[in-house]
Amino acid sequence: IRKIRTHHLLQMKERGEKWAMLTAYDQYAAATFDEAGIPVMLVGDSASNNVFANETSLPVTVDELIPLVRAVTRSTTRALIVADLPFGSYQRSPEQAFDTAVRFMKEANAHAVKLEGGLPMVPQVKLLTDAGIPVMAHIGFTPQAEHNLGGYRVQGRGDAAEQLIAEAKALEEAGAFAVVMEMVPAPVAAEVTKALRIPTIGIGAGIDCDAQVLVWQDMMGLRTGKAPRFVKRYADLHGVMLEAAKAYADDVANGAFPAAEHSFES
Ligand code: KIV
Ligand code: NA
Repeated sequence: IRKIRTHHLLQMKERGEKWAMLTAYDQYAAATFDEAGIPVMLVGDSASNNVFANETSLPVTVDELIPLVRAVTRSTTRALIVADLPFGSYQRSPEQAFDTAVRFMKEANAHAVKLEGGLPMVPQVKLLTDAGIPVMAHIGFTPQAEHNLGGYRVQGRGDAAEQLIAEAKALEEAGAFAVVMEMVPAPVAAEVTKALRIPTIGIGAGIDCDAQVLVWQDMMGLRTGKAPRFVKRYADLHGVMLEAAKAYADDVANGAFPAAEHSFES
């Protein structure tokens, strides 16, 4: 496949092929993940935490995210690039969501958008998909609603499971091409996955989702400190960069860099 389209993701689900999504916010990460064959990249509003150093995803703006989405779409040829709609840029009305999504499509070449929420977002999903904008939904724990959900907590336990399944079905019915499920009990996520034709993408939602997503700085160990339970570390980029910075500084202090080969003759 030269270029991943939403229908390829449906076909993968039909074939039982699982796939991995990563966040990306800049040129070299995006180009590297494209080369690795990652089929879908999300320019997440998690850029708020991972690029702009905010405590939560809430402060990041459309104007801050657009240049990141543009960098990622310019640096990739195969992956489907999804732009996350930030807090406050789509909840008020379907028309507001449309105006924001159009900015990401026209100014940054996004191929799709993602938004958080269940039943209240059905009109948004419907208007956008009717207008030709593919929408990825996001249910379970939705970080933009952290203050309403009482912090980082597993969603869909007990009686809330039926509601989660109904939400997922309503979002599929409204036209979403995929649904992210964050911090949902594995058996509930499995039920949702079975009930939907569109792929489910899990983050802290167990093995039975059709796909998985992780924030790249978490899974590559660039961010240090305690990671959420759902993160698996595949590299120690913090260690690699720390050692490289120290070695360079030492070389300069000791007169080992630059050598003749890095210098110009007269
Ligand atoms: O912003 C983000 O990184 C996300 C994923 C973790 C799903 O929404
Ligand atoms: Na997000």
